[in-house]
Amino acid sequence: SIEEENKLPINEESLTENAKRILEKRYLVRDEDRNIKETPKELFERVAQNVASANEKYNDDRTVEKEKKEFYQALSNLAFIPNSPTLMNAGTEIQQLAACFVLPVEDTMEGIYETVKDTALVHKSGGGTGFAFSRLRPEGDVVQSTGGIASGPISFMKVFNQSTDTIKQGGKRRGANMGILHVSHPDIKKFVEAKDNEEALTNFNISVSVDNKFMEAVKNEEEYPLKNPKNGEITEYIDAKKLFNKIAKQAWKNGEPGMIFLDKINEDNPFPSNNPKDKHYIESTNPCGEQPLEPYEACNLGHVNLSKAVRDGEVDWEYLDQIVDLGVRFLDNVIDVSDYPIDKIEEKVEANRKIGLGVMGFHDMLIELGVPYDSDEAVEKAQEVMKFINSKARKVSRRIAEERGAFPNFDESNYDEPIRNSTLTTIAPTGTTGMIADVSNGIEPIFAVSYAKNVLNGEQLVEVNDKFIKIAKERGFYSKELEEKVKEKDSIQDMEEIPEDVKELFKISLDIDPEWHIKIQAAFQKHTDNAVSKTINFPNDADMEDIASSYLLSYELGCKGITVYRDGSRSEQVIETEESS
Ligand code: CDP
Repeated sequence: SIEEENKLPINEESLTENAKRILEKRYLVRDEDRNIKETPKELFERVAQNVASANEKYNDDRTVEKEKKEFYQALSNLAFIPNSPTLMNAGTEIQQLAACFVLPVEDTMEGIYETVKDTALVHKSGGGTGFAFSRLRPEGDVVQSTGGIASGPISFMKVFNQSTDTIKQGGKRRGANMGILHVSHPDIKKFVEAKDNEEALTNFNISVSVDNKFMEAVKNEEEYPLKNPKNGEITEYIDAKKLFNKIAKQAWKNGEPGMIFLDKINEDNPFPSNNPKDKHYIESTNPCGEQPLEPYEACNLGHVNLSKAVRDGEVDWEYLDQIVDLGVRFLDNVIDVSDYPIDKIEEKVEANRKIGLGVMGFHDMLIELGVPYDSDEAVEKAQEVMKFINSKARKVSRRIAEERGAFPNFDESNYDEPIRNSTLTTIAPTGTTGMIADVSNGIEPIFAVSYAKNVLNGEQLVEVNDKFIKIAKERGFYSKELEEKVKEKDSIQDMEEIPEDVKELFKISLDIDPEWHIKIQAAFQKHTDNAVSKTINFPNDADMEDIASSYLLSYELGCKGITVYRDGSRSEQVIETEESS
C-alpha cells in the first residue's frame, strides 16, 4: 500500500477547527446559491484528482490513480500544501492554479490600459500581480501625439489601484499588487513617498529596484544618475546616500518601500542578463517579493510542511526526500492542468515551466529540534535543509525531463543538463496556507506564544502554542496558572518561572534581533532558485539608521530583496490574518 511505500500515515482529520473555518469561508466549492458543497476531505480529493490528471498526457509510469492517492495523502496530512489558487480552483471552472504573475507596463496608452485589463483578468482568476513602472516616462514629460504633459508612473499606479479595488481575487479575496520603480527613474523621490499617506495605493506593496552600481554609490557616498527611460537622457545626478536614507526613513515610518536587488536577481536567473531589453530580463517580482518573473510569466507555489519532518529530535531526511519528490511532481503537473487567463502568459509559463517549491513551519521545526531561531545553529539548519530540498528538487526535475522533456526554453538557459523546470524553489509567506496547516508561516518566527483563534461558532478563543504546553508538561513546569499567564502575553521573555532554554526556543518575532532575521533569510536564499519572502521586524524604538543598516546587510549577504516593519508604525497593523489575507 501507499502507506507502506512512503512514510505517511492515512490521516483525514488533521485539520484544526480554525483551519476548517478558513476552508469553509474561502476554499470549499459552493453551488449557485453559495451553499458549500464539499467537505475538506473532498477538497483534497478534488485537488489531488485534478493535479494527477496531468499524467494522462504522458506515456510514463506515473498513473493518475497512483498519484492521486499519493497527492491526497500528502495534502490531507498537511505534509505538502500548494498555494491558495490551487486549493481553491483545481477541478473547478476557474482552473487557474498559480499565485504569482508579473505583467509589463509599456510606455504607451494602449500598453498601460491593456495591462490594467490583464491585471483585472489575473485577479479574477485568483492570482496576484507585480509590475515595474520603470519604463514609463516621468511626470511632466512631453506627450508627442497631443502635445500634452505625461502624468508619470505614480498617477498610473493609482489607476491600477482603483481597478484592483473593484475586483475581488477569484471572487474571494482582495487583489494584491507589487509596484516597482527603478532607482534611476526621475520620479523616484515621489515614488519613495507614494505611500506616505496610509490611504494611498492600499492595494500595492511598493519596492525600489536598485542595481549594484547604486548600492556601491551609497557605500562610497557618490553621485548616481537619474535617467529618462524614454530617451536615456540623464536628467539629474543625485546624492545616492541621501536617497538611500530617504528610503530607509520612509520604511521606518510605515514599512515601505522595500528594496529589490535587480542585479542579483538577473545573475541568478537561469537566463542571466544585465540588459533590460533582453527577452528574459527580470524587472519585477510578484506581490510579496518571493517570485521574480519575466513579464507575462506566472509561477505556482507549494510548500513542504517542515513541522512534520522531525522525528525524535532529528530531521527525518528520508521523509523530506519523499515529500520533495512528490512536491516537484505535483507542481510540475500543475503547469499542465492550469488555465491561464491570457494566451501570452500560457505560452511563457509552458516555455519556462518555473515552479516554486518552498517550506512552511521552519520555526516549528527548530522548536522540535531544540534550536533557538536566533542562533548560528539555526542558520546552519536553514542552509542544510534548503540545500537538501533544492538539490533533491533538481534531481526530480531532471528525472521528469528524461520522461517528459526539458522545459522548451532550455537551450536559451544556462543549464547544461536537461531539466524539466527552469526554477525549482521559492520561499513564500504562506499567509493563509500556513494557518490551514496550523504552523509558523514560511520561514518566519512565531509572532506570539498565544493567539486568538476563531472557533466554529464565531467565538474567539485564546490558545497557547501547543508545542510550548507540551514542553512545559514534559519538563514539569506546567501549571494552569502558568498557561493563563502566558495567554495574557505575546512574549514570554520576562517570565522567571520558565527555564531560560525554553524561553530561547519560543522567542517571538519582536524578541529576535533584526540581524538574525536577515541571516536566516540569507541562509535560505543561498539555496533557493527564486527569492525568499521575509519580513524583518523591528521594535518600535528602532531608529532610521537601524533600518538603513539592515537594507545594506541584506544586500551584502546576497538577499534578493528586503521588506521591513517597525512595530506599531502603521495605525492599523497589518498582520496576516484570515480576514486580511
Ligand atoms: O498562503 P497563500 O497561498 O494564500 O499565499 P501566500 O503564501 O501568503 O502568498 C503567496 C503569493 O500569493 C503572494 O506573493 C501573491 O502573489 C499571492 N497572493 C495574492 O495574490 N493575494 C493575496 N491576498 C495573498 C497572496
